[in-house]
This record gives sequence, C-alpha cells and structure tokens, in this order.
Amino acid sequence: MSLTDTQNRVLEEVIEGLQDTPKHISSKFFYNKVGDELFERIMELPEYYLTRSEYEILGNQKEEILQSIGLNNIESIIELGAGNAFKTKILLKYLLEQNSDFKFQPIDISQNALNKLGNDLKVEMPNLNFSPLQGEYFEVLKHLKSEKKQKSKLILFLGSSIGNLSNSQTNSFLKALYESLNPGDFVLIGFDLTKHPQTILDAYNDKAGVTRAFNLNVLKRFNDELGADFNLENFDHFPAYNPIEKSAKSYIVSLKNQTVNFKSADEKIDFKQNEPIKVEISQKYSLEDIEAFAKESGFEVAKHFFDCKHYFVDTLLKK
Ligand code: AVI
Repeated sequence: MSLTDTQNRVLEEVIEGLQDTPKHISSKFFYNKVGDELFERIMELPEYYLTRSEYEILGNQKEEILQSIGLNNIESIIELGAGNAFKTKILLKYLLEQNSDFKFQPIDISQNALNKLGNDLKVEMPNLNFSPLQGEYFEVLKHLKSEKKQKSKLILFLGSSIGNLSNSQTNSFLKALYESLNPGDFVLIGFDLTKHPQTILDAYNDKAGVTRAFNLNVLKRFNDELGADFNLENFDHFPAYNPIEKSAKSYIVSLKNQTVNFKSADEKIDFKQNEPIKVEISQKYSLEDIEAFAKESGFEVAKHFFDCKHYFVDTLLKK
C-alpha cells in the first residue's frame, strides 16, 4: 500500500501517539466520511443535548446576537469548521431577510467539504454571498487581517468545538485568534456548561452505541487508509467524566494483550489487556472559566446567550 504525503504525515503522528505513555490518538482523526456521518447521527441523539441547546439559542436570540454587532455593521460571517452549517443557517437567513450586505466565509482545510456546503447553500439561499476560504484557520485569518474594512467580521466557533482543546491549548488558540483580528471584530463561541455529571456522561455514552461506533471508527480508518490491522472486536469504548476537572474524556481500551501492525511503516504496536488509549477531551466550563479565558486573551465579553436550561452558552467576544 503506497501512501500520499498527507497520509504519511498522519501515519507518523499516529505511531508517535501510540508509542507514547500513556497512548493517545488525536480526535481530529475521527472525521473521515464515515466519521462525519456518525457525528451527524450523534447530533440527533436524545442524550446529546449540545446541538439542540445551541440550536435553541441561535433560533430564539438571533436578533439580539446580531443586533449586538449591528445589522449593517457585519462585513462577513467567518465560520471555523462549518460542517453542514445547519445552525449557522439560522443567522444567515435572518441577515438575508434584513437585507444586510454581508459575505459568508466558512474556513475549512477540505476543499471538498467547502464545495459540498456551497452546492447546498446555492439551492437553499441563492442570494447568499458565499465566499469560502480553504486552508488552516490562522493562515486564512492572518491574510484577512490585512484587508482592513470599515465593518466588522464575526467569527463563529460553534458546537463546543473549543472543548476538544485542553485548557492550555484554548488559551493559545484564543490569543492567536485575538492577534488575527482587527479592533471592532467579534467572535461567537459555543461553550458547553457544567451540569449534573450524569447528564454529561450520558451524552458521550448513548444507549444506541453511536458514540462507541464513532470512536472505534478511527481504528477502522487507520486500517483502510494507513494499512494497519486493528481488529475492532478486540477494543472497547470507555467514556468518563471528572466533575472536578470538568472534562469528559473518551478512551479506547484494548481487551487483550495484542500486537497491531502498521505494514506501510513497518511498525508494530503492542497493547496490554485493559490498556487505555486517550482519544478525546470534551471540556465543560463555568462562566468564570469563560470570563477568565476572555480576559487572558484580551477579549471583552460583550454578552452571554443561554438556552432555557442553562446547559450551553454562546458567548459573544469583542476585540
Ligand atoms: C465536535 N465535538 C464538540 C464533539 C464533543 O462533544 O466533544 C465531538 C463528540 N465526541 C463524541 N460525541 C461528540
């Protein structure tokens, strides 16, 4: 099996993680075609309250969110990791109805994902000024900073994607975001709030087993794309929530002593029975945490927007 340059870089990072102690795999590798489909199913699960909560916030408070920036003051809505933009469409539709003159600029590393979204939006919102940007988030944003406009940019980072970063990564991420914007620009970030630990744990341990399939799919992906030979039946999904650290963590556990071969790299990885691989962190937040992150990075908190249960918050930050 011969690999592309990108696949070789992934292979190197995966093997490095599996040779580390404890073993780890980055959750960014979850999202191939099957992973994207499984994540779409997760968002519809009864236990996965995050998507519904944020949908409610955007649906009920779109006017107030956008008026905090100024309906005629929005140059562009720039979304980091838009996916199918199903929640973002609420904001886009509202701005179109108000005849606001703005662009929608999702940023994604995958041109394929952007094309798919563009085709979908062409049908649903033919009047939308769709101007996708392919590349790494900060590369693209740095480039946009130099085109200083009179109006503001609104950056969206929804769905508690920020929770998949560790707290120190979040600090660096927000500082880099602040540096890449002009004064007067805004950021709307979705944060999953702390709540009863069982509610959080259930969101990562659904009864239908979709999250299990989503996590184990990463091993199948390594078999298909990197020439590994994981036997998925010999691994299990194990989610945990620590209410002191406020972090949900998912692990893949080896059910027996076994060796997995990565033929294309000529590497073998040994797993002990019950050995965990860290695969994902989903951090939860108090309002104090969010305000401390904002302060540390230089942003002003313009306003917090909550759902009716106070499960989730979309926080509007201003540079
Ligand atoms: C994308 N991200 C915010 C999800 C989360 O809640 O951490 C990914 C996910 N993993 C399992 N379920 C959902």
